[in-house]
Amino acid sequence: MILITTPGKVGSEAARLLAERGEAVRVLARDPAKAAGLSQVGVDVAEGDLNVPASIDAAMRDVTSVVLVSPAVPAQELNVVDSAARADVAHVVKITSKASADSPIARQRGQAEIESGLIASGLEYTLLRSNFYMQNLLMLASAISRTGRFGSSAGAGQVGFIDARDVAAVAAEIASSPDPHIGRTYLLTGPEMLSYAGVAATLTTVLGRSVAFDERTVEEDKQAMMSVGVPEPTAAMNAHAVSLIAEGEAAWLSDDVPAILGRQARTFQQFITDHRAAFS
Ligand SMILES: NC(=O)c1ccc[n+]([C@@H]2O[C@H](COP(=O)([O-])OP(=O)(O)OC[C@H]3O[C@@H](n4cnc5c(N)ncnc54)[C@H](OP(=O)(O)O)[C@@H]3O)[C@@H](O)[C@H]2O)c1
Repeated sequence: MILITTPGKVGSEAARLLAERGEAVRVLARDPAKAAGLSQVGVDVAEGDLNVPASIDAAMRDVTSVVLVSPAVPAQELNVVDSAARADVAHVVKITSKASADSPIARQRGQAEIESGLIASGLEYTLLRSNFYMQNLLMLASAISRTGRFGSSAGAGQVGFIDARDVAAVAAEIASSPDPHIGRTYLLTGPEMLSYAGVAATLTTVLGRSVAFDERTVEEDKQAMMSVGVPEPTAAMNAHAVSLIAEGEAAWLSDDVPAILGRQARTFQQFITDHRAAFS
């Protein structure tokens, strides 16, 4: 049995792919109603909360492999690591980012703390270090459809965006056949680097109408995130992370997705084509 710790963007797609291959897969969900679609395709949905170790232990029954993905609050993910160690789980795939203990971004420091805890646990593991998800743009989709513009503090910085569905596909592949991937760290990106002006040009081409990119300050970016419901501390952290793109933080590519999946990673053009309705 493979346990996926949340039914978010990566977890729900990984669960769907594993169920499609006939693997026994369970997802822990604090609101099982949100995972109803996964139940329908054969995923076992276990109600639980990452803050409640007993609920994680219950979901860990008969589990051999874990896909550890969540908003990456250290205490919560380390609860999963402890539970997996108690249950003698064979392997953990950890979804992470460009984490380091001295990062100016709290979420990255949190990821580094979780990675250290996982490594210290003695469990076999694989780290998936992703670049920015293309799906982050969906937060701006309704504004783009209304105004034909969007902005950020990323300036002219380049990003090796990855489609979260490809992160899920890599996680599913490794969780079902972990042996060649034990102890490895992979860098997950799409096939190309784009600036946000390049994203606007791709939106213009695919949607067939003009979409413009506006350079914003970090404060303007934070306010824009809060205006679509992101809580203030998260908006501040995300805006800071986006502003680092201008300094080259996300200007990296890797061939790990095609090497593991045997196919190319999705392009931004493909992502927008698949989500055309959200932007229209
Ligand atoms: N976005 C990026 O650009 C990017 C880049 C690299 C790495 N990452 C990493 O990707 C991870 C996030 O993955 P994602 O985008 O798939 O997540 P997501 O779509 O934001 O979903 C988060 C999930 O976690 C659940 N959750 C939150 N708190 C919980 C709790 N206490 N107990 C149980 N479930 C809980 C949520 O449930 P509810 O629906 O009930 O809230 C939701 O299903 C993070 O580790 C992040 O650092 C992201």
